[in-house]
Amino acid sequence: MPIITWSEKYSVNIDKIDQQHKKLIDIINRLFDTMKQGKAKGVISEILVELQEYTVYHFTDEEYLLKKYHYPELDNHIKQHQFFIDELSNLRGKMASGKLGIGLEMMQFLSDWLTNHIRGNDKQYSGFLVEKGVV
Ligand SMILES: [Fe+2]
Ligand SMILES: [Fe+2]
Repeated sequence: MPIITWSEKYSVNIDKIDQQHKKLIDIINRLFDTMKQGKAKGVISEILVELQEYTVYHFTDEEYLLKKYHYPELDNHIKQHQFFIDELSNLRGKMASGKLGIGLEMMQFLSDWLTNHIRGNDKQYSGFLVEKGVV
């Protein structure tokens, strides 16, 4: 069972963004599988690096669009993104120093943050960007 299953409730009605969100969900699900299988720390760390890199890529793309169309909530949106990137860095640091292993609590944090962000903050810009002709 994946920890997150994509459904229409996550759609922001912009195909490119939906595809990127699906990819983020895939990476988190892969991390969850790896955790359940009790894979080595090195394997888990690699997926965590992939998650952080793809998250940065996605946030950059999203912020570019929001800036381009002068989205009024841009600053707050960037702060939310920065929070998650910082948390990912913290998790990676703690794992590298052996202070933290991957567990259900961490998986719950990653999946909750992402789904809440998509359904809350990202959906808020959806109508705004669609109105500007972004598809
Ligand atoms: Fe976002
Ligand atoms: Fe997003």
